[in-house]
Amino acid sequence: MSTLGPSAYHGTVDTWEIVGGTRLVGDVRLTGAKNSVLKLMAAALLAPGRTVLAEVPEILDVDIMAQLLSRLGADVTRDHAAGVVAIEVPEILDHRADYDLVRRMRASISVLGPLLARCGEADIALPGGDNIGSRGLDMHVAGLERMGAQVSVEHGYLHAVAKRLHGHTIWLDFPSVGATETLLMAAVTAEGRTVIDNAAREPEVVDISHMLVEMGAQIGGVGTSTLVIDGVEALTPVHHTTVSDRIVAGTWAVAAAMTQGSITITNARPEHLEIALDKLATAGADIEVHPDSFTVSMDKRPQSVDIVTLPYPGFPTDLQPQFIALNAISQGASLVTENLFEARFRFVHELARLGADVQTEGHHALVRGRPALSGAPVEATDIRAGAGLVLAGLVADGLTTIHEVHHIDRGYSGMIDDLRRLGAQIERVTG
Ligand code: EPU
Repeated sequence: MSTLGPSAYHGTVDTWEIVGGTRLVGDVRLTGAKNSVLKLMAAALLAPGRTVLAEVPEILDVDIMAQLLSRLGADVTRDHAAGVVAIEVPEILDHRADYDLVRRMRASISVLGPLLARCGEADIALPGGDNIGSRGLDMHVAGLERMGAQVSVEHGYLHAVAKRLHGHTIWLDFPSVGATETLLMAAVTAEGRTVIDNAAREPEVVDISHMLVEMGAQIGGVGTSTLVIDGVEALTPVHHTTVSDRIVAGTWAVAAAMTQGSITITNARPEHLEIALDKLATAGADIEVHPDSFTVSMDKRPQSVDIVTLPYPGFPTDLQPQFIALNAISQGASLVTENLFEARFRFVHELARLGADVQTEGHHALVRGRPALSGAPVEATDIRAGAGLVLAGLVADGLTTIHEVHHIDRGYSGMIDDLRRLGAQIERVTG
């Protein structure tokens, strides 16, 4: 199991201390995407035998998913140095995901499809809302019902039963990442053809589709908004390399722009970040793109850029707080519109402690750029808010102390080490 340190767990008091003002210069190497690997781990349940995943990031959420899979009967081993996870899946699985794990990580819901497909039933504790919004499951449920499952909520658990799922056409109201993945994993061994229309097209959805195809699934339209799945009898385990993390890549790109530095991001897929890189170019950054790396350099104060978050290939909501931090120190005013998570602006109250001028109204934020921010104690309210606060701390005058850093540990592997190598003055203080 991982040794991420005590801050990785709720209720502990580690903080990150940053003294702002240094330019970040150098290289960082990306590992696999959090939002892909967790689903790939869940997908492993679909095939008895040994699945091996590479480029697994060293983050807390991987540990939580490993614990959940172990609870369901799988044997999970992790080689931290190699970034590899091996999952040995038994013929017979338990079908219940308990509240104590689900409440720690919403992505636990991704075992719903595989458990229903493998066991004919699934009991998953309801994840509830979180710091970024209410996050319903209605599209997951409606799709599974179309495929013949009976779904009910009892005693805080979502209970789904289906002897064998059958294919159906499902029109999603919204291209939900989670619902697309649940239905995809349920459909690959269902009887007949399933069509998921208005499917999510995020690179992480494409990654899981590729892995399922490697396992023997028949999926047409991968990467488009219409997925056509012809159910097969059984899948076989595979070795698969996780797609690289575009959100971590985007976070480093913003760090380079904000600190007027120059960062080369390697093991990257720059084509997954086109809008974000275009925004940085508009802000004044110089961007050099290579097939599996890119460099962002900046030699002046950025210009503010307007942002509208949308499903992929639109601007990612998971980079919205980082771009608010950028706009907070840029020249001019900008309008940021958040269309995915209604509570994702909560963190601007923390950013205001550093002197940022951000006014929110519903799902819009008006950011008036300030020439400087000043260090202060702040609290990370979720992973990406935490990243936004780290970026702001890097340019703020004096000391910024970030509390509740377990949120950042959930999604960013080795961030402090990378920041120090790039020249930042940052350390973890164990409380
Ligand atoms: N929604 C519903 N009903 C549903 C499903 C979704 O109303 O049945 C709503 C949600 O409440 C939300 C919107 O649809 O307002 C988008 O939700 P989606 O299902 O697309 O997102 P998700 O699967 O819950 C994943 C990532 C998020 C990322 C979003 C959008 C994982 C574990 N999480 O969430 O990542 O922001 O897709 O790209 O893959 C993060 O990493 O910080 C993070 C929050």
